Amino acid sequence: MLTLGIETSCDETAVALVEDGRLVGEKLATQIDVHALFGGVVPEIASREHLRVLPRLFKELMAETGHTPNDIDNIAVARGPGLLGSLLVGVSFAKGLSLSTGAKIIGVNHLWAHLLAPGLVEDISFPALGLLVSGGHTHTYLIKSPVEFELLGRTLDDAAGEAFDKVAKVMNFPYPGGRHIDELAQEAEPDTKLFPRGYIFNSNLDFSFSGLKTSVATYIAKHPELVFSEMADSAAIEALSGDERAALCRVCASFNWSVSDTLRIKVERALQQVGKVNSLIVAGGVAANSMIRSTMTKLAEKKRIQMVLPQLSLCTDNSAMIAYAGSLLVQAGYEHDLDFEVIPRGKVVPLDWKKNA
Ligand code: KG4
Ligand code: ZN
Repeated sequence: MLTLGIETSCDETAVALVEDGRLVGEKLATQIDVHALFGGVVPEIASREHLRVLPRLFKELMAETGHTPNDIDNIAVARGPGLLGSLLVGVSFAKGLSLSTGAKIIGVNHLWAHLLAPGLVEDISFPALGLLVSGGHTHTYLIKSPVEFELLGRTLDDAAGEAFDKVAKVMNFPYPGGRHIDELAQEAEPDTKLFPRGYIFNSNLDFSFSGLKTSVATYIAKHPELVFSEMADSAAIEALSGDERAALCRVCASFNWSVSDTLRIKVERALQQVGKVNSLIVAGGVAANSMIRSTMTKLAEKKRIQMVLPQLSLCTDNSAMIAYAGSLLVQAGYEHDLDFEVIPRGKVVPLDWKKNA
């Protein structure tokens, strides 16, 4: 069974082919450089770039894998949550292709796809506890099976990745700055008293990162020497040395620790509340963070459950995860008619598939 995956929910345009649960080929074009100039993703530019790039990537994927559009059995497309205009480009392309080839079409929840992605390279034992940490979302789920997700907790304000990017912006790192904070954080011990861990003194599973972000911004405002005078490129980061570098690394490590430990507390609490699960899946762009990876791995060891962490290429937005999640839905008997809608950020993605007999 050959499944095409299409991803256009934010600033990556990507297409992939998955056959019987394994990746056959993938093409990805990132728009990061275009948006970096503006310090964040500009929705209208993102949609136009998807429109320009997607047909070429699709043709290249067909040529490189030796397939023709008529070989495709299922078309899986990210239908939200994401940027509305961007999603419309991918979903319209998918619908046109389905009309012309007769392939089944399935709209995929981008967040579920992030969490299922590691299944492309290893077997995941369900039920699982899923933590999705990305630029737009911080969600925990009880994942009973690859097609049954129950939302347990979510952020009340900023997503974890947003906190990383906003803190990075205050220091004048280029967008998205999470990666730079991670790299510098590895050079210092965190001061665990420096910044707060937001919204932990309660019994619920929701997150809040805006207080932490403000606290770091306030600290940095009092220490202007921690801010790069011009937007930091890799040479500027490399050139930092001595006390200046040590101070910046300490702030990065302390902030990174506050995020990691907040996530740990909430995930540990979720594990206590849901009862027995077989694995812990941590996914999304922020799952690339080294401190978060090691914190979660230790937690899974302590709880004696399988730790499922996607390889780095499957952490950030990609189309292999869309193809894979779509293929699991089709296997479970689900597909969409051509009239399904795209879902913007902040809205719940409906379970509006039709089920085959
Ligand atoms: O999942 P993703 O590619 O896009 C969304 O759907 O949002 O996640 C992107 C986010 C950005 O906020 C980026 O700064 C963050 O993931 N990120 C990291 C790291 N690598 C990417 N944050 C912390 N540490 C990293 N190593
Ligand atoms: Zn994503």
